Amino acid sequence: MKEIETVRETAFLVGVEWKPRPGGRYEPAAWPVEESLAELARLADTAGLTVIGQERQTLDRPHPATFIGRGKAETIAATVRALGADVVIFDDELSPRHQRELEAIFGDEVKVIDRTTLILDIFAQHAHTKEGALQVALAQYEYRLPRLTQAWTRRALTRQAGGRAGGATGGVGLRGPGETRLEMDRRLIRRRIAQLKRELEEVRAHRARHRRQRRRQGLPTVALVGYTNAGKSTLLNALSGAEVYIADQLFATLDPTTRRVELPGGTIILVTDTVGFIQKLPTQLIAAFRATLEEVTEADLLLHVIDAGHPQAEAQALTVFETLEEIGAGGLPMITVLNKVDRFPRPDLARVALPVGQRSVAISALTGYGLDDLKAAIEAALEEAMVPLSVHLPYARGDLVSLFHERGLIDEERHEADGTFIRGRLPSVLAPRFFPYAEGR
Ligand code: GTP
Repeated sequence: MKEIETVRETAFLVGVEWKPRPGGRYEPAAWPVEESLAELARLADTAGLTVIGQERQTLDRPHPATFIGRGKAETIAATVRALGADVVIFDDELSPRHQRELEAIFGDEVKVIDRTTLILDIFAQHAHTKEGALQVALAQYEYRLPRLTQAWTRRALTRQAGGRAGGATGGVGLRGPGETRLEMDRRLIRRRIAQLKRELEEVRAHRARHRRQRRRQGLPTVALVGYTNAGKSTLLNALSGAEVYIADQLFATLDPTTRRVELPGGTIILVTDTVGFIQKLPTQLIAAFRATLEEVTEADLLLHVIDAGHPQAEAQALTVFETLEEIGAGGLPMITVLNKVDRFPRPDLARVALPVGQRSVAISALTGYGLDDLKAAIEAALEEAMVPLSVHLPYARGDLVSLFHERGLIDEERHEADGTFIRGRLPSVLAPRFFPYAEGR
C-alpha cells in the first residue's frame, strides 16, 4: 500500500481576553491572552499542526450560542477561508451548542475544535501503555459524545476512507456500512465507552496489585509533579541515571515511569514521573487520569518541579497547586524544585529571586547543579514525614497491621497473647489512625 503523505495541517487560533465583571464567573486572568495563545500554539505544534494565524476578542462572558460574538465569528471564518486553514482551535472549552453553531458558521471545509480536544489528541499520540491508551480513548469519546454533529460525523468518515482513523481532530474509529447517521454513531460510541470502561477496570486492578507489591517493599515513594515541560523527566533521568524519553514538547510523558534512586544516606526511594499539568484542563479530564494520578495521591512526598525561568512560572505553579487540590493531593508534603537555573546569570540567587517557601531547592536537571542539595532535602523531608510509633494492635485489627506493613517501616514486631506489638515509623498522615492503640497514650 502506498504510504499516505504526511502533510502538516494548518491551524488558526482563537483566544478570548476575559474581562472581569462584578460578580462574574471569570477572575482577572492569571494568564494574559497572549501567553495562553502562545501556549496553545505550542500545543498545536506538538500535535503536528502548523499555526498560520490567530485572532482574539475581549469578552466578559461567553456568547451563549457562538462563544465569541457571531459577527466576530463570521469575520474570522472569512479570514480562515482566505488563508485556507484546515482547523480552527478555540483556546477555551466549547460547549456542545457552541460547537454546533460555530461549525455552521465555519462550514464543512474547516474543523472546529477546542483546547481540550487538542490536548486529548496529544495525549493519544503519546500514550504508550495499554492503560494510557485506554484512558485517553475513553476521555476522547466521553468528551466527543455530546459534541457529535452531522458535519463532524461526515468528516470522521471521510478521514477514515483516507486511511487516517482517529486523531484528534476527531475520529472515533467507527467503521462499516450505514454509519453516516448521527444516532447510530452516538449508539456506537456509548457501546465503545462501556467496553473501554470494562477494559480499564481490568488494567487498573493489575496496576493496583503492582502498587501494593511496591508498597510491600516498604520503600518510600516520591512523585514528580509540575507543569508540562518543566523538566520532570529530565530530573528523573538525572536522579536515577536511567533513560526516560525527553522532548522539548508539551506532554511528552503521559504514562507514569518509576525508578529506584539511592539517597546519600543510603535510603532507597522510588521516584515516579507523571503526566504534566496544564491550565484550563477540565475537571472531567483530570478524573479520566485518576489511575495515573493515584501515583501522586499515594506518594509520601511530592517534588514540585518548576521551570524557574519561564515568564509564566508563577501562574504555572498556581495551576499545579489547583490541580493537586482537585485530585486530593493538596496536603501532601512537598519540596519546591526550581529547575533550569542554568539559564540564570546567578543560579545561586534563584531561590532569593523567586517567592517560594522555605522548602525549596534550586537545580538544573540538565547540568546536575544542585542535585546533591535536592537529594539531601528529600532525605530530610521523608524523615520528617514519618513519625515513630509503638502500638499494641488487637487481633481484630489485622487491617492496621497490614497498613503498617504496607506504608510504614517496621523496626520490631512481636505477636503477643492479645495482639501484635509493632515499633516503627509511619507516614504522619496515617499516624492518627493508630493513636488509640499507641503506647503511652
Ligand atoms: P512533560 O512530559 O511535558 O510533562 O515534560 P517534563 O516536565 O517531563 O519535561 P522534560 O524533562 O521532557 O523537559 C522539557 C524540556 O526542558 C526539554 O527540552 C529539556 O531538555 C528541557 N530541560 C529540562 N531540564 C532543564 C534544565 O535544567 N535546564 C535547561 N536549560 N533545560 C532543561
